[in-house]
Amino acid sequence: MELRTPRLLLREFRTGDHAAVHAFAGDAEVTRYTDWGPNSTVDTTAFMTEVVQDAAALPRHRFGLAVAELEHGTLIGSVELQVTSTSHRRAEIGYVLHRQWWGRGYAGEAAAALLDFGFEELGLHKITATCDPRNTASARVLAKIGMRREGHLRDHLYLRGRWHDRLLYAALSR
Ligand SMILES: CC(C)(COP(=O)(O)OP(=O)(O)OC[C@H]1O[C@@H](n2cnc3c(N)ncnc32)[C@H](O)[C@@H]1OP(=O)(O)O)[C@@H](O)C(=O)NCCC(=O)NCCS
Repeated sequence: MELRTPRLLLREFRTGDHAAVHAFAGDAEVTRYTDWGPNSTVDTTAFMTEVVQDAAALPRHRFGLAVAELEHGTLIGSVELQVTSTSHRRAEIGYVLHRQWWGRGYAGEAAAALLDFGFEELGLHKITATCDPRNTASARVLAKIGMRREGHLRDHLYLRGRWHDRLLYAALSR
C-alpha cells in the first residue's frame, strides 16, 4: 500500500532502504525521546525484517511505512500505525524523521495521512499517540493534526535506567 500527501509518499519498506533507515534510527539525537534506539545496524535489520513480515500478515495489524520526500525521492523517516484492538477499533501511531528534515511540517503531513487512512480505510474509531512530555515538537505535531490531549501517564515506561512519563493524545473518528 502507499499513501500520498502534497509533499510525501508513504510506502512499504524495501531491503535497499536499510542505510537510509539506519541514518536516522541510529542517531541518538533522533531517538532521545523514543522508547527504542539508538539502533545498532543489527537492530535496524531486525526492525526492517519485522516490518516487512508484519506487512504480509492477514489481517494486517501493523502498517510501518517509509516516508519519502516526493521532490527528491529521498527516504526521510518512518511512520507507523498499529491496530491495538480490533474489537474496540483502536490503533496507535508514531513517527520519526531524519534530523535534516525536521522543522518543515513533514511529520504532521505524514501523521495526518495515517489518521485519514486509519479512520477511512480501516474503519477505526480511536487513534492514540504518546510522547515524552519534554518532546515539545512532537506534542505540537499531535495538537496540529487535531489530536486531543487525554492525559499525563506517570512513570509509564522504564527506559535507559529510569522511569519516564508519557503524554497521551487521541483522535476519534469524525
Ligand atoms: C518530533 C518530530 C517528528 C517533529 O517533526 P517535524 O516535521 O520536525 O515537525 P514540525 O516541522 O511540524 O514542527 C512541529 C512544531 O514543533 C516546533 N518545534 C520544532 N522543533 C522544536 C524544538 N526543538 N523545540 C520546540 N519546538 C519545536 C515547530 O516550530 C513546530 O511548531 P509550529 O508548527 O507551531 O511552528 C521530529 O522532530 C522527530 O523526528 N523527532 C525525533 C523522533 C521523535 O521524537 N518522534 C516522536 C516520538 S513521540
